[in-house]
Amino acid sequence: FQPFEYREGVLYCEGVELSKIADHAATPCYVYSARAILDRFHSYDQGLFGIPHRVCYAVKANSNLSLLNMLAQAGAGFDIVSGGELHRVLKAGGDPGKVVFSGVGKTREEIDSALQLGIHSFNCESEAEIALISSLASRLGKTASIALRVNPDVDAATHPYISTGLKEHKFGIDIAEVEGVYQRAAALPGISLDGVSCHIGSQLLDPAPLLEAATKMLALVGRLRAKGIAIKELDLGGGLGVPYHAGDPRPDVDTFLRKIRQLVDGHNLFLMFEPGRSVVAEAGALVSRVLYRKKNGEKEFVIIDASMTELIRPALYEAHHEILPLRKSKFGTVVANIVGPVCESGDFLAENREVANVLPGDLIAIMTAGAYGFAMASNYNSRVRPCEILVEGDTWRVIRQRETLDDLIRGEEL
Ligand code: LLP
Repeated sequence: FQPFEYREGVLYCEGVELSKIADHAATPCYVYSARAILDRFHSYDQGLFGIPHRVCYAVKANSNLSLLNMLAQAGAGFDIVSGGELHRVLKAGGDPGKVVFSGVGKTREEIDSALQLGIHSFNCESEAEIALISSLASRLGKTASIALRVNPDVDAATHPYISTGLKEHKFGIDIAEVEGVYQRAAALPGISLDGVSCHIGSQLLDPAPLLEAATKMLALVGRLRAKGIAIKELDLGGGLGVPYHAGDPRPDVDTFLRKIRQLVDGHNLFLMFEPGRSVVAEAGALVSRVLYRKKNGEKEFVIIDASMTELIRPALYEAHHEILPLRKSKFGTVVANIVGPVCESGDFLAENREVANVLPGDLIAIMTAGAYGFAMASNYNSRVRPCEILVEGDTWRVIRQRETLDDLIRGEEL
């Protein structure tokens, strides 16, 4: 399913003309296709049909309450990394019993509230964290279900900022040391060592490293069981990538999961995945209006009303996002830097890009922006964060209001 499509030269999201949304809701704004999100979620859920499993959407990719609610109703669990994300899941009607809590730096308060709410499990990243969970759970008279996040030492071959599965990264516990950690943890009260988990990195266009990690994890499960640790669950994290460049191949979730099913078949494991990007990225676009055109020397600039505060990925990772005009024109193309109003040279959405020869007042869409877009938005330069819109068929609605100037100073004192 293609959520964004030209019809007679005009860009649509599902059945709605994007420029209609921009005219009513103003720009910049994020627009998401509900159907695309549910489609991608179902491809994971159905791809695992026949084996006990849960797909825990990684809230960090896009944590809008409406999206979380939609996914909760579709049966999703949630992968969270903070008390804030847990709060969102609850507000969105998510079931705490389907939540896994990841992250290297969980605080005492966060662990305590997760225990009281009865989340499904903790993915633990250090012995000190396991000890803390053990003592907090014992005090509450509860048993926390625990998986250790293992670092399987697989090279995910992705951008260094989002690769996590190598020894030198801060994440996880080295696979060479983890068996000892399990054995020491087995003596602790208040915890049950139910699972193993890993997440080797994000935006993997080639699923081979994920399969390699899965193979190593299954071997580990065998070794742990042989030592009397009754592992019941395997969480393989997120990571499948999406095509940011027009023409990039899209890793097929179905093919990937078929191979995973073959690997885990007969191992008697409850399988979990934590996909984020691949569920929401392609479902979203950031719509923006051209403010000015200018030339500095030979360099062309298209200055738009969106910036790194709405979408930081190009500035932070040199990430590529396709840029499309909302209306195709006959005025050809231009090679330009597409930049925002923020006072930073790094504030660009694209550099030296051939784009439609857009003029002030024209509308553009920055594509594949549904994941790590709004979720990483900031108020730098005292810019209000944009509104978010959900399209369902022929209708659209605001699922987050644009911030106001008063929102910007909330909580501050003279
Ligand atoms: N599980 C864990 C433990 C994670 O750390 C992550 C992402 C995921 C699941 C979801 O991974 P996904 O399916 O989305 O690849 N801001 C960066 C991406 C950071 C990813 C961090 N962890 C970006 O904009 O590319």
